[in-house]
Amino acid sequence: MARFLVTGGAGYVGSHVVLALRERGDDVVVLDDLRQGHRQAVAAGAELVVADVGDRKNLTEIFANWKFDGVLHFAALSLVGESMREPLRYMAENLSNTLWLAEAAVKAGCDRFVLSSTAALFGLPEIIPIEEDAGFAPVSAYGESKLMAERGLEWADRVHGLRSACLRYFNAAGADPQGRLGEDHTPETHLIPLAIDAALGIRPPLTVFGTDYDTPDGTAIRDYVHVTDLADAHLRALDVLKQGRSVRYNVGNGNGYSVLDVIRMVGEVSGRPVPYAEGPRRAGDPAVLVAANARLRRDTGWSPRYGSLEQVVRTAWTWRQKHPHGFDGVAATMSATPVAES
Ligand code: UFG
Repeated sequence: MARFLVTGGAGYVGSHVVLALRERGDDVVVLDDLRQGHRQAVAAGAELVVADVGDRKNLTEIFANWKFDGVLHFAALSLVGESMREPLRYMAENLSNTLWLAEAAVKAGCDRFVLSSTAALFGLPEIIPIEEDAGFAPVSAYGESKLMAERGLEWADRVHGLRSACLRYFNAAGADPQGRLGEDHTPETHLIPLAIDAALGIRPPLTVFGTDYDTPDGTAIRDYVHVTDLADAHLRALDVLKQGRSVRYNVGNGNGYSVLDVIRMVGEVSGRPVPYAEGPRRAGDPAVLVAANARLRRDTGWSPRYGSLEQVVRTAWTWRQKHPHGFDGVAATMSATPVAES
């Protein structure tokens, strides 16, 4: 049995990873300030420390109180649109929080670190599917902040021997298949929850951002990876780090679906029409993002268990129907226009 520190473990992806760690019998300490996370999302038996990951004094105390076999760092600012309004805050916070956390781990003799990274590193890729070594050219401050964080971790490896796995998520989606956890962001900007809420009538009709892309139906294509499969990739990455080398993996199914494919699937799964309107493109959105996942499969034996769009949408739909107001029972915000990253 091992013990892990999970920052942002009360958030969407973090909470699914904490659940997976607890299920395999590991001890978990969650560090989350609950600004975005939800107390109810933290799996039973995990210790919750409510504090800001940027509070270095608190980090020192945590590493003094517990001995960790690894750190998984989810807590971060993660809205692409917001990062284009506040680029300096995004870069400063995401980079410094990662580096101080890595330093605290090094000082405590903990030598495994997993970073939530992103497909946004690749900017507007020319070659699909996207390999790990495709050029980095982020087109958002969010993507840049994660690229800098990855680079910081390369130095931590070189100088201190801190082994890191940077997992570049494509579009994390879906919910725990047993219905224990789901997606509950404020504001919500992601396609699948917004389409589901539009079908349920608890949010206004969806706006399709752009119908003039160079894709078969004119809408943007993404690789929707199930959050439980994403969680599994983290556990496998932790095991690979035991081999004593740092790794970088793109995490996606390798299949792309358009915005209209997603709308159709939400309609089929829910049995309700998804009201939507066509709108202009959203700034900074690439036409197509699909992962090449051969490296992850080869090194770790990972393969998606919930790889179909139907499974992704069905689990998200099931959770949302049971939790129309999210974890806290607070009504989802109704606004005149859909909340969107710009
Ligand atoms: N979309 C709409 N209408 C909406 C919301 C989204 O048409 O109301 C479209 C987007 O334009 C995009 C697709 O649906 O084409 C998926 O959008 P999401 O907002 O769900 O996800 P993104 O692809 O924008 O973002 C994801 C991650 C980011 C990461 C980014 C990399 O959430 O953290 O991929 O580009 F940075």
